[in-house]
Amino acid sequence: NYPVTFVIFGATGDLSEKKLFPALFGLYKKKLLPQHFKIVGFARRPFTDEAFRELIKPGILNAEKKSNDEQDELQASITQFLEKVTYHQGTFEEIKSYIGLINRLGDIDKELGACSHKIFHLALSPFYYETVLKNLEASALNLSCTDGSGLTRLLIEKPIGTDLVSAKKINALLSDIFKEEQIFRVDHYLAKNALYRLLTLHFFDPALRTVWNLEQIEEIQLSLYEQATAEGRGAFYDKVGAIRDVGQNHMLEMLALMLADKPPEENDREKRAYRAQALKLLESAQIDTKNLKRAQYEGYLKTEGVAEHSQTETFFRANFEIEQGAWRGLRVAMEAGKGLKESAVTASVIFKKPVSLTMNGSSEEVKMLTFHIQPDIFIELTLSSGGKEKVPYEKIEQLRHAADNYELVYFESLGDNQERFVSKDEVEASWVFIDRLIAEIKKIPLVVYEIGSEPSSIA
Ligand code: BG6
Repeated sequence: NYPVTFVIFGATGDLSEKKLFPALFGLYKKKLLPQHFKIVGFARRPFTDEAFRELIKPGILNAEKKSNDEQDELQASITQFLEKVTYHQGTFEEIKSYIGLINRLGDIDKELGACSHKIFHLALSPFYYETVLKNLEASALNLSCTDGSGLTRLLIEKPIGTDLVSAKKINALLSDIFKEEQIFRVDHYLAKNALYRLLTLHFFDPALRTVWNLEQIEEIQLSLYEQATAEGRGAFYDKVGAIRDVGQNHMLEMLALMLADKPPEENDREKRAYRAQALKLLESAQIDTKNLKRAQYEGYLKTEGVAEHSQTETFFRANFEIEQGAWRGLRVAMEAGKGLKESAVTASVIFKKPVSLTMNGSSEEVKMLTFHIQPDIFIELTLSSGGKEKVPYEKIEQLRHAADNYELVYFESLGDNQERFVSKDEVEASWVFIDRLIAEIKKIPLVVYEIGSEPSSIA
């Protein structure tokens, strides 16, 4: 319950507005933040504290739309929360902005009566990471207070780099400035409780455990479909594209959870090491070059911030086969895109021959198992008879965390368990594979699809 100050770099951005401030408010409402906390939003545009609070309020209200809270109470609690938020205007390049921040944090600490823990969150375009990290170091903001009190930590968003070389450079810079236990590389998919629970169910469910191997499993299929387009974040998205935006991180982390063969031991220091090991299996994976697909939705080129003749993909499809280790011969299919008919995130396991599974009370012969992660959460069994059965999520979940998604990101950043954050090794292993995939996929022409397309119609 030690006082903490969050500093959000990129506080006027899309992510901050839609996810970060609502999550911090969510934690505040659930009383999961320390009693004394402050939030400093750091960005380029000029705002008074008051104007900044007005700017972020709609995002919070929007996120709270579904809550059953009494309106007056909700308004009052948002107002109390916003009182803890202030704005620091500065450029990411100029050291004077960071000196200004030191003074601001000093004032906050005086007010709090202690050197608060500082959690810096880089929620800005990753192309600024190097600049911001160097300036954090130059201004000594990475260090504790002179008496040794007040921890410092860094939350940093994906994608870390745009390829292996640039990722290594950022990781090296991070390790110069912080110890690994201070670095919280965010992949908010790992912070989705349902996703984490479902994709690691084979660790815990005895029936699944017995079929979770290469003798039984033929293929894993992952899909991340979004209705939303790149509107509103064209400049960022255009430099990244679907593979780097969600493939390198969210989807490969999903796969890593599924490929891990046993849960980490309670006393494992590195509870997430199993994911890096799984991702390393992809280094030599055989990419099915004949079935690659990259596509762009019609109208993408008109998005603000997108280059005139941009060849950036907003959809991709990739199939590959694992060539080493316990999963040698396993096929994996990945597909993701924006501007599609529906939003849905799923992971399917296809069995070589139907397997007997008891998940709904009675034993069934199952051909395929689909984990539905978004928008609805359930497991779907495709039976050998052709029928389908739903296993509701409530049957599976044992809530470990009251917080979910970005709430969990912040909540866990206050503790010492980095299980739900990405390690240096995971980042680098995933880029080894993604660099190869991008090199291959670039060789094929980009096709155009209509907004609202069915993924399967993109051929
Ligand atoms: C982000 C990507 O990491 O994940 C976005 O940058 C994408 O492009 C988002 O829309 C999807 O997250 P969620 O939680 O809405 O599935």
